[in-house]
Amino acid sequence: MLKVAVLVSGGGTNLEAVLKAVESGDIPDTEIVGVISNNYGVYALERAKKHSVPGFVISPGDHDDREDFHRALLDKLDELSPDLIVLAGCLIKIPDDMIKKYRRRIINIHPALIPAFSGKGYYGLKVHEAALARGVKLTGATVHFVDEIVDGGEIIAQKAVEVKEGDTPEILQKRVMEEAEWIILPGVIGEIAKGKIYIG
Ligand code: GRF
Repeated sequence: MLKVAVLVSGGGTNLEAVLKAVESGDIPDTEIVGVISNNYGVYALERAKKHSVPGFVISPGDHDDREDFHRALLDKLDELSPDLIVLAGCLIKIPDDMIKKYRRRIINIHPALIPAFSGKGYYGLKVHEAALARGVKLTGATVHFVDEIVDGGEIIAQKAVEVKEGDTPEILQKRVMEEAEWIILPGVIGEIAKGKIYIG
């Protein structure tokens, strides 16, 4: 049984895609042991609740400094003891201690074809704004291992998505989610669960 912890910051549509794939058996032999948010009141936590998965908030605002916050995050992860950590719309910079401890056990979904539109400052709608400003005809999504370099870890899967005439960042974001993110993120976790992609 693969034990997975999911880190979120917002709406949690990628989390939802993963939860559904676990329930349908598309991701076999897997348990989502917890969802951790750095923000209170985000819809991702509601989604976890609806699927009877424990949700937790570890917020920087509740801690004296960054170090204390990082310790709380690591303590919660130790408690959940996951085999795999999935960053599904997680906007916090992952502490180096955590990367060291869970090397090759943390994956992230990024809404572009890395190395395009990736790295520091490229998150959320900014990624799609940059893609439209550059005039690319194809964009997409990438699942990659997380290392010390932002969006720089080994690429596991990518899927291309067409950019269409008249796209706004919001329209493009939705297409990238529907046609790429919600497919490749559960897909990669499924491959890990089946032992086809090696972690740790
Ligand atoms: C997604 O576009 C994901 O690729 C990015 O943040 C967004 C999160 O969306 N890292 P959601 O919370 O999964 O709906």
